[in-house]
Amino acid sequence: MEVVIAPAQELAVLAADAVEGVLGSRGEPVLGLATGSSPLAVYDELVRRHVEEGLSFGRAWGFMLDEYVGLSADHPQRYRNVIATEIADRVGWPAERVAGPDGAATDLPAACAAYERSIAAAGGVDLQILGIGTDGHIGFNEPGSSLASRTRIKTLTQQTRVDNARFFDDEVDQVPTHCLTQGLGTIMEARHLVLLATGRHKAQAIHQLVEGPVSALWPATVMQWHPHATVLVDEAAASRLQLAGYYRQTYASKPSWQGL
Ligand code: F6R
Repeated sequence: MEVVIAPAQELAVLAADAVEGVLGSRGEPVLGLATGSSPLAVYDELVRRHVEEGLSFGRAWGFMLDEYVGLSADHPQRYRNVIATEIADRVGWPAERVAGPDGAATDLPAACAAYERSIAAAGGVDLQILGIGTDGHIGFNEPGSSLASRTRIKTLTQQTRVDNARFFDDEVDQVPTHCLTQGLGTIMEARHLVLLATGRHKAQAIHQLVEGPVSALWPATVMQWHPHATVLVDEAAASRLQLAGYYRQTYASKPSWQGL
């Protein structure tokens, strides 16, 4: 696992570099998309490259990590709409090439199974962008999630609903109680995991992710088993890392031509 500690804007550029590398790597590259605050600076940087440098998403496939259950099709916080607003529409990504689990399906387990099949049919995810919850979730795999889980229905923790109330006019009761999420087993099949975290409120989760024992109590710790996982954190999110000096030294001595 590589840990990079740098200012937030630098982290966004590094992640965008990795995405750009994947976009140019094969005919129909596959990106895994996260919602929430953490990837927004990355999406802004990708939009800038699209507008100023012609970076194209036209042949890429996008698969979202998760989706709330029960929000109406036009709800602005439905993750399908968030991804359209934050990146897809801004880079001219054809809507039919960006998919998410269908949180409005009448048969939710069937929708989850169909989503797994569509990721597999696209050849799997080349690069998965991730954020992390203060309770250690990735996707919406809350504490107690099976480390081998697949896309399924999950109940959100109260902590996650409180954390996300800022997207729902600070009304926690407006935050859905359930979601569909790629499982930890699904996420672990992506060929490269790139997780971003900023702010002191993420420091405990980042410490556990990088240095804690692998445990369903901190679901992101499963990433310790991934052969190509990158953790991009600012100083505040890195503030509880025991080996921060070592991670800094390792990254500083990395050849400049080598990407993430
Ligand atoms: C969102 C997702 C979540 C978020 C996490 C952090 O698609 O899968 O795991 O990445 O809740 O959210 P922010 O970035 O808003 O702090």
